[in-house]
Amino acid sequence: MSLLALLSEQFGAAFAAQGLDPDLGEVVVSNRPDLAQFQCNGALPAAKQAGRNPREMAEAIVDSIDGAGFADLSIAGPGFLNITLTDDALAGHLARIAGDARLDIPSRGPEQIVIDFGGYNVAKATHVGHMRPTIIGDSLQRIARFLGHQVTSDIHLGDWGLQMGMLIEGVREQDPDLPYFNDAWIGEYPSESPVTLADLQVLYPQVSARTKSDPELAEAARKATLELQGGRRGYRALWQHFVDVTLASQRQDVADLDVHFDLWYGESTVAEDLDPLIRSLLESGVAGKSDGAIVIDVAEPDDKAEIPPLLLAKSDGAALYTTTDLATLQMRIDVFGAREVLYVVDSRQSLHFEQVFRAARKAGIAPPEVVLEHVDHGTINGPDGSPLKTRDGGVPPLHGLIDDAKAAAAKRVDEARIGLDLSEDERADVATKVAAAALKFGDLINHRTSNYVFDLDRFTSFEGKTGPYLQYATVRITSILRKADEAGLAPGAPIAPSEDAERALILRLATIPETVLRAWDLRAPNHIAESAFDLAGAFNRFYEACHILREEDPRRQASWLQLAATTQRALTLMLDLLGISVPQRM
Ligand code: ARG
Repeated sequence: MSLLALLSEQFGAAFAAQGLDPDLGEVVVSNRPDLAQFQCNGALPAAKQAGRNPREMAEAIVDSIDGAGFADLSIAGPGFLNITLTDDALAGHLARIAGDARLDIPSRGPEQIVIDFGGYNVAKATHVGHMRPTIIGDSLQRIARFLGHQVTSDIHLGDWGLQMGMLIEGVREQDPDLPYFNDAWIGEYPSESPVTLADLQVLYPQVSARTKSDPELAEAARKATLELQGGRRGYRALWQHFVDVTLASQRQDVADLDVHFDLWYGESTVAEDLDPLIRSLLESGVAGKSDGAIVIDVAEPDDKAEIPPLLLAKSDGAALYTTTDLATLQMRIDVFGAREVLYVVDSRQSLHFEQVFRAARKAGIAPPEVVLEHVDHGTINGPDGSPLKTRDGGVPPLHGLIDDAKAAAAKRVDEARIGLDLSEDERADVATKVAAAALKFGDLINHRTSNYVFDLDRFTSFEGKTGPYLQYATVRITSILRKADEAGLAPGAPIAPSEDAERALILRLATIPETVLRAWDLRAPNHIAESAFDLAGAFNRFYEACHILREEDPRRQASWLQLAATTQRALTLMLDLLGISVPQRM
C-alpha cells in the first residue's frame, strides 16, 4: 500500500474510533512543506458534523493515533493536522518502494476496456489533427495496462461514408474502363491499386468541391456509396485498394511515434450489422421515421441546450457516422465484453458522442454499468493561436511534423554534444527517441482539454519542462549507477536520510502511486508528466547535496545509491506510461 494510503488508513481509523466517517482521515501532501510533510484536514468537517469544537476534535484524533513513526503530529490553525514522519520511517518507506517492482503502485481491475483513438480516415494521410488523439490515447492504454486492466485499442478508421462514393466516382471519371466499373467482370481484380494515396488526396477535395455545384455528380457519389455499402463487388475491390494504400502510410506514422493499436478496425467492420441494428431499433420503437429518414430522439427534459435527434439512416438507407458508431459500440460490448469504452476524440465531436451515448443507453446497447466516455481534447495551435497550418494554409501532415521533429532532435543532439562516444546507428536511434519524446511530452504536459502552441524549438530542448530533458535526466542517473557499479559499489538498504533534499526526494517517490491513479481516473496523463518533471528536479537537488560517489560512509553511500536506482526506475516507468522510451546511453 502506498504511503499516503497507509497514513489515510491510520487516520481514518482514528476518525472511525470517534464514530465518524473514516474517509475524513484522508492524508495529503502538505501544501506548506516548510511546516510539515503531510496534512489531514478532516477534523474541521468532522467537528461540524458532530457539532463539536474543531480543535478539540483534532486533539481527540491526535490522542488516539499511535505516535510511532511520527516526528511531529500537531494541530495548526482551527484544527488542521500537520504530519511529519521520522527519518527512520522515511527510510522504511524507501525500502518498501525500492523492493517493489511496481514502486508501490497498486493494481486495479482487471476491467475490459476498449480505447478508441486515432480515428484516421481512409484516403487521407494522417495529419496534425491526429497527433493528440494518438499520443493521449496511447498514454492512456499504457496507464490502464500498467494498472492491470485488459485493454483493447482500436483505431476506428473512417472508411465507410460518402467520401468513399466520391472517390469511386472520381476514379471512374479518370478511367471508366477499369474492371471495377464493369458489371460483367467475373475474374479477379488487379492486385495493384489504380491510385496512390497521393492521388486520392488530390482527388477527394476536387470531387467533394464539385459535388456542391454538380447535382449529377453528387447523386452518382451518393449512389456509389450505397452500392459499396450494399456489397457491389467491383466497388468493394476498389475500396480495398483505397484502404490498403492509406494504411501503408498511416502504419508508418504510427510506428514512427512508437504507438501500437491492437485493432485496425474501421467503420466498415460492422457493415453487416447495420441493417439488422436499424431494423431492431425500429421494431422496438427506439428509432422512428422522420421525413423519410430514420432517427432516434435523444433529447431529455432537463437539457439546457437542445440535443437534436440522432440520424441513424438517411432516406436512401445509407449508413452514417453515427450508425457505424452505434453498431461498433454494440460489438465492443457484446463481443469484446467491454465494461468501459473510452473515445479519445477532439472536443468538437462532443455533441456526436452525447447523441451516440444516449441512443446506446436508450436502445439497451450499453447497459447502465458500462462506462461510456468521450475523452475529449483540444487542438494543436500555431504561433497565432489558431490551429496549426502549413505555410500555404494547408493542414500539416503528421509525417512532416515527425520528420521536422527528427531533424530538430538530431541538431539538438549535435549541439549538446550528446552521445559523442556512440556509434552512428546508436546516435540516430537516440535522435529518433528524442524526437518522439519531444512531440509526446510537448503534448502530454498540457491538460488534454486545453489547446497548446506547437513549438518544436522548445519541445526539443534539453532544458526546461521537456521530454528530452527528462530522457537526459534519466540517462544521467543510469550513468551514475554504472559508474558506481564499475567502482564496485552497489545499492543497499536505505538508512535514515540526513539531508532535506534527500527527504524531499523520498517523499516525491512516495506519492507516485496517487499520481498514476489520478492520471487514470481523470484520463489526464499530464499529472504523470508534471510529476516526472518534479521528480527529476528533486533528484538534481539531492545529487547536489549528497555526493554519492565521494561519500565515505559505505552504508550511507549504498542507501543513496538505492535512492538513485529507485528514482531511475520511477522516471523510466513514468516516461514509459507517457509512451516515451529512454535510451540506454546518451
Ligand atoms: N474518423 C473520425 C474523424 O476523422 C474520428 C473517429 C473517432 N472515433 C469514433 N468512434 N467516432 O472525425
